[in-house]
Amino acid sequence: MSTAGTQRRISIRTLLEQATAGAPVEATGWVKTARFSKNVSFVHLFDGSTTKTVQVVLTAEQAAELKDQLGIGAALRVRGSWVASPGGEQDHEIGATEVIVVGTSDPATYPLQKKRTSLEHLRTIAHLRPRTNTFQSLFRVRNALSWQIHRFYQERGFQWVHTPILATMDAEGAGELFSVQAGDAPEGFFGKPAFLAVSGQLEVESFAQAFTDVYTFGPTFRAENSNTARHASEFWMIEPEMAFADLNDVIALAEEFIKEITRGTLAQCPEDFAFFDKFIEKGLLDKIQAVLDAPFARVTWHDAQEHLVRADRQWEHPVGPGTSLQAEHERYLAEEVFKGPVFITDYPGDQKAFYMRLNDDGETVAATDLIVPRLGEIIGGSQREERLEVLLQRMAHHGMSEAPYWWYTDLRRFGSTPHGGFGLGFERMLLWLTGMKNIRDAIPFPRTPGSADF
Ligand code: 4AD
Ligand code: MG
Repeated sequence: MSTAGTQRRISIRTLLEQATAGAPVEATGWVKTARFSKNVSFVHLFDGSTTKTVQVVLTAEQAAELKDQLGIGAALRVRGSWVASPGGEQDHEIGATEVIVVGTSDPATYPLQKKRTSLEHLRTIAHLRPRTNTFQSLFRVRNALSWQIHRFYQERGFQWVHTPILATMDAEGAGELFSVQAGDAPEGFFGKPAFLAVSGQLEVESFAQAFTDVYTFGPTFRAENSNTARHASEFWMIEPEMAFADLNDVIALAEEFIKEITRGTLAQCPEDFAFFDKFIEKGLLDKIQAVLDAPFARVTWHDAQEHLVRADRQWEHPVGPGTSLQAEHERYLAEEVFKGPVFITDYPGDQKAFYMRLNDDGETVAATDLIVPRLGEIIGGSQREERLEVLLQRMAHHGMSEAPYWWYTDLRRFGSTPHGGFGLGFERMLLWLTGMKNIRDAIPFPRTPGSADF
């Protein structure tokens, strides 16, 4: 069926875990290291399935014939037998009977050399960085985290909803929109302005009012001109939404969600986490365990401001009533006051999106942000305004026109329920889990202001 012969190939992970001594084996992969000497020559292959490489021992004839083609980065198909490995780090190795060079790689010009290259430099070769140890682990963890997120919701009966990417309204009202154009019709392709979605929340609310528990998981786009290590123009977001739920339900779900997907991902990728713990952030695993073992803190915005006012330090940005929380404040609260993740709740309505439910004080809204040490906000969520009259007042207050939101307000006319949800920034979660510092190193091909090079 396959001319490439994929039927017989097994992953290096399966090979290392399951092959029996003496059995014929076939592996494919890329050369990580190669060593040629008079007595023994071998190459180490990786294929992305594990942190480990497989050692392939060559005969003297193979070595002599192929030496020039087995440079670092070359793609090989190897057949041979699985034999005990005397000495060395590995128990077994492939004694090669056949070595096929599938794709050569000139070691003189291959951009990934043996010595470690800076993360900044690797961003300029984003097409090759997935072959490095750091990004092998990072992208395996990214994959596992996605899987754990779906598992978490599927096991709890949440329906995954595919909300549109081509949007015609501004869900967050923050105006950070990428516009979409095609052709030159003055009214645009859709007869109205179109954008890339900043969130799927408004659309998924209509599904929560039909399926009760739902979530989105997809790419979102923001034209914020924020050149920080935590902002990307294109990032992935998970947005659960629950009907018949209030802010306490939203917060309880968020905490259980963060803890469960963390446990699941740790269990799925133990070797990758050992790598991050050793090379990226010392003590990472202990830090994660401490977070799993303790309940998350919770504080109102008002009380959080009191902590800041009382703090014995010079703030760059003002604190107290009438101000808004800046990154320096969020980090202080998570790192010094609560020493771990903290839900901040009940923000002033003027600082938050129009759809958040107005509290009885008429000033604050039933919002929550989850703030973590080092990174700040990783989750933003709220209970939604389910009362038609109040929602219309909030929209007017935010200077929004009702017409485009007719269907959103309609949801408050027909079987409206108290409901709410949150958005988790997927890449920020990945930074938190792995100890990586820059969002550009948590997504395959980052887009940030001034940079979309691949
Ligand atoms: O707080 P945000 O803007 O909330 C929403 O979009 C709501 N619609 C969510 C909801 O209630 N359903 O964004 C949610 C999260 C943030 O907490 C942050 O982790 C992440 O998305 N995020 C970004 N991540 C990377 N780059 C950016 N530019 C981000 N903007 C937000
Ligand atoms: Mg937010």
